[in-house]
Amino acid sequence: MARGMLERYDVVDTDVLVIGAGGAGLRAAIEASKYNVDVTVVCKEMLGKAHTVMAEGGYNAALGNVDPRDDWKAHFMDTVEGGAWLNDQDLVEVFVKESPDRIFDLEEYGAAFDRTPDGKLAQRMFGKQRYPRTCHVSDYTGHELVAALVDEVRRRDIPVMEEVFISKLFKSNGRVAGALGIDIKSGEFLLFKCKAIVLAGGGAGRIYKITTNPASATGDGKILALEAGAELKDMEMFQFHPTAMVWPPSCRGILVTEAVRGEGGVLLNTKGERFMKRYHKLLELGPRDVVARSIMREVLEGRGTEHGGVYLSVTHLPPERIREKLKTMYRQFLLAGVDITKQPMEVAPAAHYYMGGVKQTVWGETSVKGLYVAGEEAAGLHGANRLGGNSIADTQVYGKRAGEAAARYARQAEKQLVDQRAVEEEQRRALSFLKSSETRPAKVKEAINETMWENAGIFRTEEGLKRALADLEAIKSKMIPEMGVSDQGSRRYNKEWIEALEAANMVRVAEILVRAALIRTESRGAHYRLDYPSTDNRSWLKHIVWYLDGGELKYRFEPVKITLAMPPGVS
Ligand code: FUM
Repeated sequence: MARGMLERYDVVDTDVLVIGAGGAGLRAAIEASKYNVDVTVVCKEMLGKAHTVMAEGGYNAALGNVDPRDDWKAHFMDTVEGGAWLNDQDLVEVFVKESPDRIFDLEEYGAAFDRTPDGKLAQRMFGKQRYPRTCHVSDYTGHELVAALVDEVRRRDIPVMEEVFISKLFKSNGRVAGALGIDIKSGEFLLFKCKAIVLAGGGAGRIYKITTNPASATGDGKILALEAGAELKDMEMFQFHPTAMVWPPSCRGILVTEAVRGEGGVLLNTKGERFMKRYHKLLELGPRDVVARSIMREVLEGRGTEHGGVYLSVTHLPPERIREKLKTMYRQFLLAGVDITKQPMEVAPAAHYYMGGVKQTVWGETSVKGLYVAGEEAAGLHGANRLGGNSIADTQVYGKRAGEAAARYARQAEKQLVDQRAVEEEQRRALSFLKSSETRPAKVKEAINETMWENAGIFRTEEGLKRALADLEAIKSKMIPEMGVSDQGSRRYNKEWIEALEAANMVRVAEILVRAALIRTESRGAHYRLDYPSTDNRSWLKHIVWYLDGGELKYRFEPVKITLAMPPGVS
């Protein structure tokens, strides 16, 4: 135990610190451990409780097992067309070429994927695919993947520190030097001294009122990276999954996997019409942004259910197939009193995945020496709209790459000293929320959620976005400094204190999202402006890149990396 001027803290010395224990973080840790460096994983939740488990329907790999015409080129084209051409194509090319090998790694770790009758990995259709490409384990693929990765991490004896909240990254001499954490169990500070960090903390769905994401998805990593000097991009691009539960209210936002539509589920409005016929040639398996908007149009035009959703039906499929291929869905709805073999599901869109995040190279490098990113923390691969099934494949391809790159860097880098004053400054900031106040974190989070859902959701306008910005500025300048907790005496398992730190991150993520959405005066992928409904490839084939300059948030534009395929109308 060391003592700073202000507060005690334990010191954890490691070479590579992996922040986050979802698919990307665990894969990064496994890879880094092969390079004879010390690796430590920290996660905010208990091990195994990661958002990766919500990628229920599958893992995209162009294996061609079900349709031999599939190959990396087809996967590449589906990904960039589905991403509305905002994807950096160098990232996409690496991804589609390496995702098949990474699924074989998972099999080695013990994941048991479903098989075709001749023993190959089975593949199903998912949205915006030209061939069946999504490998699966019924409809709990993400769960199986996380379980296999956890087993491998344990086999390799990689230390995992659970329930640790990282509040700040430190640099010295322009390089990563460490991070400050709070051990949620004891409430004590922990100082991590390390050479390299892999940030893999996942998404930020909790900035929205209705989301498929767990409570931990508060965007902390994006703010940690920004403050450390890394750049963020595509922050306006947030995906709404077309189908989440709407009823009963306690189930609102629980994911209804795309696998339901992949297995043949149809969307119906209250007039019994298969309305996707009006919106996309691929019907229910159109890109997620299109399907989500179509559902909302049906609801807004009065053809939705009384709870604000539409119907998703598999009642035409054989019940035994439903129970085998959609096990989780069958049980999930049965608990809500709906037998999906006989009755339709009631569904509506919910915030699901952040395409925006930290700018990365194909090795997960950021603009900060020693800082790497992977998974939903990063940006550039999925463009303006991610395809279902591409996220867990992303965690494996880029988790491996970031882990390898971080370990190689750590092997030759000198450990930097952490500036004691910076540690104390961060401790002071964190402790400032341990005060009595009527403005509690839950109230602050609710204020963020309400304005984001109302004004920065599926359909956006300048007027709404400006309203959101004004709300968020007020939250940032008034509510955040006032915010306090009910128990100021004990820091042990003081979850409200951690929530205060999360709320401070959430408002900043939300603000950047809204600012970016105001700047992008076109519609592309998940970013849909009612006042600018067209996609403008001539002016807007570019990223909005965010960075801090002397503490001030600034942005610049950067062209999309086009290496293999030209977007329509661009020569
Ligand atoms: O619908 C789903 O199963 C989600 C998959 C994904 O987001 O990749």
